[in-house]
Amino acid sequence: MQKTSQKAELIRLLSSIREQGEVLGFVPTMGALHQGHLSLVEKAFCECDKVVISIFVNPTQFDKKTDLEKYPRDLEKDAKLLEENFPEIIIFSPDAGELYEGEIKSKHFDFGLISEAMEGKYRPGHFDGVGTVLELFFDIIKPNKAFFGEKDFQQLQIVKKLVEITGQPVEIIACPISREKNGLAMSSRNQLLTKNQWEEAGFIYQTLQKTRTLFGTKNATFVAEWARGEFAQNPHFELEYFEIADEETLKPTAEKKPGRKYRAFVAAKLGNVRLIDNLAL
Ligand code: PAJ
Repeated sequence: MQKTSQKAELIRLLSSIREQGEVLGFVPTMGALHQGHLSLVEKAFCECDKVVISIFVNPTQFDKKTDLEKYPRDLEKDAKLLEENFPEIIIFSPDAGELYEGEIKSKHFDFGLISEAMEGKYRPGHFDGVGTVLELFFDIIKPNKAFFGEKDFQQLQIVKKLVEITGQPVEIIACPISREKNGLAMSSRNQLLTKNQWEEAGFIYQTLQKTRTLFGTKNATFVAEWARGEFAQNPHFELEYFEIADEETLKPTAEKKPGRKYRAFVAAKLGNVRLIDNLAL
């Protein structure tokens, strides 16, 4: 394992990889690593010769200061977990000043309609922050492939659009969602749940699965309304959105069209913890 917080040192480390023509993989994360993150690293090692993981809680993608402050951080624990599982990994954990060089603020991107619904609507400026930090990382690391989880499906589509806009020569690879035994999508934020909340959180995946079944026979408007009703009846959750949308355009849909793929998307608060999930229908 090699670990650095310095851009110059990382670039030096990576230069020999590039000279030897090896395939470089990149897994961007905000740390507090769990099995979901590790599944991305695993896939990266299957497809690439060398793998860099970034661990950086990116301030510009948080619309709420309190959310940024309470985001779990434990770099030492993360590094240990990575070393045990992937002894060859390169960890890049810059501080914000080092990464952003000067003012720590977002650029604005024109991602179009895919940035407007769901996370874009409920977290203003979030995707500009994600785009800004990833453009910086891609510039420094120059990976051949970068790996992203379908857990953040809208983010995945945004990243594909980002590289179209910036023209950076990196292939974006999608990875499936890792779940806990009760179906809860793994997330760094799950650490903030109490034991009871953790169990209650299984309700999200149960509802998504029932949605998938209903979607076989009913139209999208009916099914989405049904799911919103399920959340309304559950006193533990405060629903932000439940949408059935086209996978590619992310436009909420009323009717199924032949040849298109659909997904159900949900964001809900359990106590103070905001959880998101999605399922292909
Ligand atoms: P973070 O939430 O740490 O997630 C890092 C990557 O891990 C993302 O691609 C995310 O989709 C993936 N991931 C998280 N939980 C997963 C799960 N249960 N199964 C599969 N993949 C999962 O997403 C971010 O960080 C940031 O926005 C980032 C891209 C690093 C930019 O700051």
